[in-house]
Amino acid sequence: MEQVKFTQMKDGDKEDYEFLAHHEIEFTKGTADRLLKALVELDKGLSGYKVTRLGHSLQSATRAWHDGADTDWVVSALLHDIGDIYAPYNHDEYAASILRPFVREQCSWVVEKHGDFQMIYYGTHVGADPHKRNKHNGNVYFQDCSDFCEYWDQRSFDPKYDTKPIEFFIPKVREVFARTPYDPKIIRPNVREPLVNNI
Ligand SMILES: [Fe+2]
Ligand SMILES: [Fe+2]
Repeated sequence: MEQVKFTQMKDGDKEDYEFLAHHEIEFTKGTADRLLKALVELDKGLSGYKVTRLGHSLQSATRAWHDGADTDWVVSALLHDIGDIYAPYNHDEYAASILRPFVREQCSWVVEKHGDFQMIYYGTHVGADPHKRNKHNGNVYFQDCSDFCEYWDQRSFDPKYDTKPIEFFIPKVREVFARTPYDPKIIRPNVREPLVNNI
């Protein structure tokens, strides 16, 4: 069997869907490498900053790694702006959707909301509410998102910073996307791991 027999989903049988399930599992094994390729595509986007979008992503992840943050944090920092390619108006939600099945809830929440928290640095300059993050007041991860933006995101536009190359992060990205999706042992709702271990 090389293709399903049906042309409408409702006509498919067990054999068709078992065949597809096998194909989809094989396809998901390539997720990490497809994401890394998309990350390199970021290099072509958004000129005007002193670093490219890829440079910003790598610098954010490098800072997370230097701070002793765990793999979930480092990979989340690396991919936090990957939505810029296809979803410029909700890039944070887009990136969080990619990460959510594979990283701790803490990290995917922070990635999802980082756009609101970043406003504190430039909202007044673009006619937006700098305190947009206040709608998340009381959330268990509020301080984590504030720290993510302060320590890793907003300061990672420095062309002089000693940023690690993408090759350094490949094993970490592959490790994360090889995990069992939505594994409760990974998602760990309401568990907070520190962003910074060395201060
Ligand atoms: Fe962002
Ligand atoms: Fe960013």
